[in-house]
Amino acid sequence: MADEKKSQQGEWSSRFAFILAATGSAVGLGNIWKFPYITGENGGGAFVLVYLLCVLLIGIPLMMAETMLGRRSKENPIHTMEILTAEAGADKNWHYLGWMGVTAGFLILSYYSVIAGWASAYVVKAFFGNFSGANPSEIKAIFDSFVASPMQLLFWHSLFMLATMLIVARGIEKGFEKSVGFLLPWLFALMILMVGYAMTTDGYFKGLNFLFRPDFSKLTADSVLVAMGQAFFSLSLGMGSIMVYGAYLPKDVSIAKSSMIIAGADTIVALLAGIIIFPIVFSNGLHPNSGPGLVFETLPIAFGNMFGGWLVGVLFFIALVFAALSSSIALIEPAVAWLIENKGFSRAKACLWSGLVAWLLGFGTVFSFNAWKNAKLFDRTFFELVDYLTANLMLPIGGFCIAVFAGWIMKQEHSKAELDLPGEHLSYAVWKFLVCYIAPAAVFLVFLNVVGVL
Ligand code: PFF
Ligand code: NA
Repeated sequence: MADEKKSQQGEWSSRFAFILAATGSAVGLGNIWKFPYITGENGGGAFVLVYLLCVLLIGIPLMMAETMLGRRSKENPIHTMEILTAEAGADKNWHYLGWMGVTAGFLILSYYSVIAGWASAYVVKAFFGNFSGANPSEIKAIFDSFVASPMQLLFWHSLFMLATMLIVARGIEKGFEKSVGFLLPWLFALMILMVGYAMTTDGYFKGLNFLFRPDFSKLTADSVLVAMGQAFFSLSLGMGSIMVYGAYLPKDVSIAKSSMIIAGADTIVALLAGIIIFPIVFSNGLHPNSGPGLVFETLPIAFGNMFGGWLVGVLFFIALVFAALSSSIALIEPAVAWLIENKGFSRAKACLWSGLVAWLLGFGTVFSFNAWKNAKLFDRTFFELVDYLTANLMLPIGGFCIAVFAGWIMKQEHSKAELDLPGEHLSYAVWKFLVCYIAPAAVFLVFLNVVGVL
């Protein structure tokens, strides 16, 4: 039935365009801002190893599952779950899964936009040469005084949210593919350049050691959960975002190959960020566990010191803002697609309302770094709560359900036809095993472990 149907929002022009858009969704603040600071907070190597295992055993099979579900229904996540449950003759309640995804997207976008605002402000700071010749404590002071000002954070948060809304309002096809295709190679080239700088610092090997030599005594139940949550967050999984993109995917594209390329690119960018940042940490006597400010307290040191650092700094922060934009677009799209397809909103109106709600929620994150810094619930600020709730709980729960749905509920002939894996039986069997057993069991065991049952 899904064969002749096309998504109402258009279709990607090619396999390449899909890979670009999904990689654009994946590569973002999660790689460059979040991965380094949570790696720093969770002790380094062992955490990174768990993270990589999660990407391989849970992330890639789930990305295939999500893409497949989206392509089969050609609809927004909520409607996808309704259509596919009907097709499988399953319980109606599965569509709540789509709801959770839309909600998670809102919540993530609310703080994502605030942090992307920091990156935007840093474009300006880099441009005006604020970092040149500054020492580490001056760089830290720049960051501290910046986040202490709610007005400044609000200004940049608003600007970024507005940009997101404007881009999404124009629709998924127009211009959007091209800008991502331009951005990613640029970001990659700048990062390679910065690895070159990191290699010249005397903390280089200490940094690599921290990142890649596992010390399992540093691994707690909670850091395993954080690593798993980060795999979901970084690959944009568990909330139907990739599902939306899958809905725009032409029939003849290999889902397995695309998923591996996307996950590979995402992982490489995250590791590069670590390879750049930790050498700077150790060669300047900084601490790996300095929290969400880590990137903003380390990279400017490099820009202030390296040859051509002014230009590299300006370009890097611009690239980071654009990488964040191509992710924020993916965060808001499930809600927008749902408002259009199920509620009859125009695209512009759908963007306006979903952007507005996320923007308002973002105030909580803005104040978490200043006025409400000490207002804590469960020992966490508003920002930390939203982050924990989404990345560590909602996305893994969403991923668990998607795995169960794709592996157990959906008819085998349907998943087999959609995935169309080469060498048929073996690779399909591997996927099926990972999705039916490994992914759900891993999420379940990690949760039990955190709750203290295991
Ligand atoms: N994957 C993005 C990042 O690493 O920055 C964040 C993200 C985007 C998460 C889109 C979820 C999503 F649907
Ligand atoms: Na990512």
